[in-house]
Formats: sequence, structure tokens, C-alpha cells
Amino acid sequence: MEDQAEKLREIMRHKTAGAGGENKSGEDNRSRSERIESRAADKTGRTKSRIITVTSGKGGVGKTNVSVNMALAYARLGKKVVVMDADLGLANVNVMLNMIPKYNLYHVIRKQKTMKEIMVDTDYGISIVAGASGFSKIADLSEEERQNFINELEALSNFDIIIIDTAAGVSRNVLDFVAAADDAVIITTPEPTAITDAYGIIKIIATEWDSLNMGLKLVVNRVKSYAEAKRVADRMTNIAGQFLNLKMDYLGCIFDDIAVSQAVLRQRPFMVVDPKCKASLCVQHIVGRMEKSELKERGGFGSMIKRLFGRS
Ligand SMILES: Nc1ncnc2c1ncn2[C@@H]1O[C@H](COP(=O)(O)OP(=O)(O)OP(=O)(O)O)[C@@H](O)[C@H]1O
Ligand SMILES: [Mg+2]
Repeated sequence: MEDQAEKLREIMRHKTAGAGGENKSGEDNRSRSERIESRAADKTGRTKSRIITVTSGKGGVGKTNVSVNMALAYARLGKKVVVMDADLGLANVNVMLNMIPKYNLYHVIRKQKTMKEIMVDTDYGISIVAGASGFSKIADLSEEERQNFINELEALSNFDIIIIDTAAGVSRNVLDFVAAADDAVIITTPEPTAITDAYGIIKIIATEWDSLNMGLKLVVNRVKSYAEAKRVADRMTNIAGQFLNLKMDYLGCIFDDIAVSQAVLRQRPFMVVDPKCKASLCVQHIVGRMEKSELKERGGFGSMIKRLFGRS
């Protein structure tokens, strides 16, 4: 793992040394993902998309709401955003947006569809990609399927922001996406069970922390007051710091707001139904904080692919 991280940094050094600079390792010797990486950089003039994985220990704490509404807040800032539902079993994002994409990543992996074909534009200025439960088996893909999938993932590299909504809990699938992200946003509520489960997932992230080098962020959802949110956040960030030696940034809180459940019932994002409700203002604030937080030098999209596949 450490070797891999070092290799990544080495690639980054080459890349940031300047476009068109000498590549000592030689063009032909570069791996496919390295080539994808530099192409993504060349095409856009920027080096990277920001890849944000939203996860939690306990289910039902608000991951999908946060993912979709954060995406909308980013879109309002003029960013090109895609939300990937990494949990097909529950089809969270689709249900929340009242859309039933016909195809998903499974069809891409099986070469039946391209990424562009399965991607759906919404009325809200964001795109969505339905995930496949087969994603948990990245390790089981054949070499040909892997290559095809890597090629297809490249279609996401022209997005500024890629938000990955995961299933709750610790599974290989979730950890792979956490590892692949620039930022892992952990969602909890003030409930003791949610906090304990959030701590569980953070603990597992900690075991691989040295090689991950990503931004770990906390959002406390369904709070009654700022003071309550701060109490939860302080407790969690202190535990992470003291016992796990992890730096976790508190991104902000979202108020328990009836507008959220009402919007869910209408299958529309609360940012659209009621852009001025408490929850909407909180999400905008969270995205503002996210934008201010440093995007670590992790090599952008190409290295996301490496991290996804290098772990299998
Ligand atoms: N800030 C909030 N205020 C009020 N209700 C909320 C809030 N956040 C979430 N909820 C309620 O919790 C429900 C679950 O939210 P959501 O589907 O986003 O959670 P999840 O973590 O994605 O769940 P799962 O683990 O099943 O994927 C929502 O349908 C909504 O009713
Ligand atoms: Mg969900």
C-alpha cells in the first residue's frame, strides 16, 4: 500500500512538473490509468475532479439526502456535478429524484452500455449514475471487464465534482469508495447508536489511514441546535484525534427539518422544494466549507481509478 502511494506521488511530481515535460519513465511504459490521468489533466486544463464519498456507520442517517442536496448546492456554484449511487440494492438516489434509470453500472461492466449511455441528466442540473451491487466485486472482474470499466469511468473525469452515495456500514464496497475519494464525508445524527457506528467506520478507515491521505469530514445531521451539533462533533473529533490519531474536520450540521421528509415524500430534493428552509441553508454552508477546504494532492481522476483497482 505504501509503495503504491509513493508511486502515486511520483506520478504527481511528473505531472505537476509541467505539461509536455519529459517523462522519464517513457510514454509506452506508463500504465493505462496513468495515461488516463494525464489525459484528464490535459483536456480540462485542470488536474482534477473532486471525488467525495458520503458514508455512515448506521443506515438512515441522511446520506442520500446529503449527497443529492450537496450536489445541487455545488451545481448552483456553477460546478458540473454527477452523483453516483453506489448502492443499487436500495436505489436511493433514483427514488429521491423520482427517476428510474433503465441501465446501471452493471450494464457498463458487462459491456452492454457505455457510461455515457447510462448517465442520466436530471431536471436539476446534475447528472446521476446508478450503481451496481456487483461493484463490491471489483476484485472479481475479469481483466477484460476491468479494462473496459476503467475506460468507461473516464467519462466521469470531465465533471468537477463526483459525489458517491454509499450504503451504510463497513463493507469492502464502501471502503473501496472511501479509499478512492478525495474526501470522505461521514454522516451521523446525535443518536448514540449512530455515533457509535460512525466511530466504527472511522476506526476502520484509521487502519488504512497512512496510505489514504484523504480529507476526513464530519456532518452531524438532524440536530435540534448548533450546541447539540457541536457537542457531537467535538466528541467525535476528539476521539478520532486521541485514540486513532486521525484529523477529522467538522464540516457542519443540518437541522432536523420537516421540509426534508416532506421533500422526500414528494421525491424531490429539499434544496429544490424549499431552497430557503433550514436544511437547505445548512447544506449550502457545508458546501461552502468544503470548497474552502484543501483538496489534497492525490492525483485526480486517474489515481481514483488506481485506488479503486489497486486495492483489489
Ligand atoms: N435533516 C433532516 N430532517 C428531517 N428528516 C431527515 C433529515 N435527514 C434525513 N431525514 C429523514 O431520514 C430519512 C432517511 O434519509 P436518507 O435516505 O437520506 O438516509 P440514508 O443514510 O441515505 O439511508 P440508507 O442508509 O437507507 O441509504 C429521510 O427519508 C428523511 O425522512
Ligand atoms: Mg441512502
